[in-house]
Amino acid sequence: MRTLMLVAALAACSSPGKLFVSTADGVQEMTEPQIEALAEQIHADEHHCGGFMVFDDASEASAAARPEKPIDYALDRAEIVRAVLPRLDEAKLLGTIRELSAMPNRYFQSASGAAASGWLRDRWRSFTTRSDVTVELVDHGWAQKSVVMTIPGSAHPEQIVVLGGHLDSIGPGMKNSDAPGADDDASGIATLTEVARVLLASDYRPARTLMFVAYAAEEVGLRGSQLIAKQYAAKTVGALQLDMTNYQGSDKDIWLMKDFTSAKQNAFVGQLIDAYVGATWGQDACGYACSDHASWYRQGVPASMPFESRMKDNNKAIHTKRDTLEMSDNNAKHAIKFARLGAAYAVEMTKGELGGDTTHESHPWRWLAVLLGGLGVVGLGSLAKR
Ligand code: BES
Ligand code: ZN
Repeated sequence: MRTLMLVAALAACSSPGKLFVSTADGVQEMTEPQIEALAEQIHADEHHCGGFMVFDDASEASAAARPEKPIDYALDRAEIVRAVLPRLDEAKLLGTIRELSAMPNRYFQSASGAAASGWLRDRWRSFTTRSDVTVELVDHGWAQKSVVMTIPGSAHPEQIVVLGGHLDSIGPGMKNSDAPGADDDASGIATLTEVARVLLASDYRPARTLMFVAYAAEEVGLRGSQLIAKQYAAKTVGALQLDMTNYQGSDKDIWLMKDFTSAKQNAFVGQLIDAYVGATWGQDACGYACSDHASWYRQGVPASMPFESRMKDNNKAIHTKRDTLEMSDNNAKHAIKFARLGAAYAVEMTKGELGGDTTHESHPWRWLAVLLGGLGVVGLGSLAKR
């Protein structure tokens, strides 16, 4: 029997020209009537809908036809996760949302949207002096750049795990809008930032490569993430998208979006919530490619999107000047749950260790102690020779 890919029909979005259909069996060029016949056949054979994806781009179709990467989703880093979680600081997370949402807007073509990239790069860079950790701006040709922090893996540097969110915000006046985007998506960027800060402060050393990405230009068609996903898809084993984490709109805390995501990785994320987050969760769907996880999904990379509420209960102030911290009662109580989840995901996906020094690598007293220790040994050695 054929093994089929996740259910998704994108035919509605494709052009009337050539269409490329990807199933687990590979990619085929098809006409609309042939696609309809395929859908009917799958329905008859498998008793469910879909099981294929339709693209108007052949390379995207091939990427989606690649089998999901074989990842072992075991939970076996409890000791490290539990050492890291208490260091997450709700006040710091709140402070980052406040700073990002104080910018006039973070539109992908505005001066303040560009400044947000530089601001975040400097913030991430300040978390460590480790020379193996890189923080880079990715220029896509717009004023705003994506920001990428990479902590190379010690054992499997060629396997990348991505934690992402979008840096841009949008309002009706585009470039000239007052668009604080506190929830959409300063909350996601601040959540990522707090996870990165704590892992680096704990001198975390991942076995797989850990990448934090603040995508530019999500609000104008997932444009930054499509370019980044294309670039890194072949090496990426999992992606977690944090887009809107600080508005508690529903009865349960965390909602895993079922569409444009990986069912296997979502099951693992559910286990992470139960084991480490201490939050309630359920499943819902966006109903369309609502955020950057879809860019990874379209490249065949297992993606998940833990969301702040059910879709129907979402924060109605987004994309307006009312998307401020006021809507979240000026606290980050909801977002901190997503920071716990993000940290657990990062550690359990990259299977790392904590380095020996959990203070600060370059602390001057540490070097003085090393120097004095060395002199002591030399001194004792010369005494012994006498
Ligand atoms: N954060 C939103 C997506 C979202 C909104 C998810 C409400 C769930 C509930 C995202 O930034 C956004 O606005 N996406 C666009 C689509 C995108 C492809 C331009 C949207 O939802 O209209
Ligand atoms: Zn939005």
